[in-house]
Amino acid sequence: MTPVLEAGSDAHKSFFCRQFIDTHQIFDPENFAWPDLTEEELQRLRSVPFWQEVYHTERRAGAIVDAFTPHVQDPEVRAAVALQGLEETRHAKLIKVMIDRYGLEAYEQPIETFPDDLEVAFIDFGFGECLDAFLGFGAFKNARQSQFLPSSMFDIFDVLMFEETRHIVFFINYMAWRERRRGLGAVRRRMKSLRFYGRAASRLMGMVGRGKDANDGKDFSVTQTNLFLEGFSFRGFVEDCYRENARRMSAFDPDLMQPKLLPGLADLALKGIDLWEKGRRLAPKRA
Ligand SMILES: [Fe+2]
Ligand SMILES: [Fe+2]
Repeated sequence: MTPVLEAGSDAHKSFFCRQFIDTHQIFDPENFAWPDLTEEELQRLRSVPFWQEVYHTERRAGAIVDAFTPHVQDPEVRAAVALQGLEETRHAKLIKVMIDRYGLEAYEQPIETFPDDLEVAFIDFGFGECLDAFLGFGAFKNARQSQFLPSSMFDIFDVLMFEETRHIVFFINYMAWRERRRGLGAVRRRMKSLRFYGRAASRLMGMVGRGKDANDGKDFSVTQTNLFLEGFSFRGFVEDCYRENARRMSAFDPDLMQPKLLPGLADLALKGIDLWEKGRRLAPKRA
């Protein structure tokens, strides 16, 4: 029987770094089978208000991870982080290929200067990825089901989603290894995660606000939102995020640590909604 890996041990570190490096895929986004879109599909793609943010986020991700890489002391971790930087830069390239091919409105913005403590920038970025990915899982499933674009397009996005899932699995293991080595117990680690998730959530709200302002809500709300919002329920969305997270995580070695906090909160929210609805059904009706 394989011994259970102790988080923070050298064996754990070698294992999660090796897993990350071994599952790296080699491809060039230029060579993907980008589909020809009909005029209607092109309009839909162009009216999505967040390509600018997505492009900038991926370029910024590559820059943060690349800047942090030379500061990583441990050679195994450094090799894995370097590979993540390469993948983030390739995500930006994938988005750029799509922007050029389909004439989307998005351009290169200057990247802000990072704080002196690049590890804090990397950790902030990592928690942001965990939150974005968890919500993205539900949104992606919804968009695919709505047939907003041809499924071949979603197959391409799926390559990116898989790599983001790999990144967050790597990050969760990295954090556990890092914090355990610094002697942080489970409660303090949980508190720290909550604090960083809070920061990530406020950044995400800022991004949503900017997307709305940039687009003024016009094109997208009138023509497209119905596709997504038809039959939208908060419960359904949380359930999609939760289920898709579990499905995507099942692709990884069960000996790797996986994000627990957001799925745990989603599970709690679902149970709360169920209780609330049950209570409403059982409550005596007023005349
Ligand atoms: Fe990325
Ligand atoms: Fe990533």
